[in-house]
Amino acid sequence: MSEVLYSEGDLKKVVAELAAAIAADFMGHSVLLLGLLKGCQPFLADLCRQLSYHQLNVAVDYLLVSSYVGSSSSGKVVIKQLSVDESFCRQRNVIVIDDIFDTGLTLQKVTAWLQAKGAAQVKSCVLLSKSGCNQTEMVPDYCGVEIPAVFVVGYGLDYNEKYRELPYIKVLAENEISA
Ligand code: XMP
Repeated sequence: MSEVLYSEGDLKKVVAELAAAIAADFMGHSVLLLGLLKGCQPFLADLCRQLSYHQLNVAVDYLLVSSYVGSSSSGKVVIKQLSVDESFCRQRNVIVIDDIFDTGLTLQKVTAWLQAKGAAQVKSCVLLSKSGCNQTEMVPDYCGVEIPAVFVVGYGLDYNEKYRELPYIKVLAENEISA
């Protein structure tokens, strides 16, 4: 039996709080929200909507990033730029948007990549952070909620491309692994 960790209503509240914190810090500044595909999609869409209620104007772009195979990290983070504009992040305030912070290797690699491409500042916003898994010095600037070190799916998070469509987040049950 899967355990629902965060319902649709819980997630809405968490995203609204994150938007309020970002809007307070960036009011009057231009911001590029850079979503890490594929998992960021529902989170980023809801975050944008919430930011619009604070009248914070944002631009949105994406990177395609992968490291997970099934339910474990390969430790090798691969980044693919999707924007055709090579200088898309130069001198911009970039907030990297990711679904979950686990080992920190993704955020570490993406932050270094953006700094090398000339971003003015790089901040990060994650919906979830797994306790006790960070292998880096990175700390997300905006973090929705801390969760235990379990594999979760739903609200953009997948297991072999399944479960992304769920409107809530649940722990992947034993009998769903490799199902
Ligand atoms: P790292 O370890 O680099 O991981 O901080 C970030 C990326 O790993 C994926 N990830 C998960 N995906 N359920 C998932 O569906 C999980 O529990 C999980 N933990 C890590 C995710 O793609 C994230 O962007």
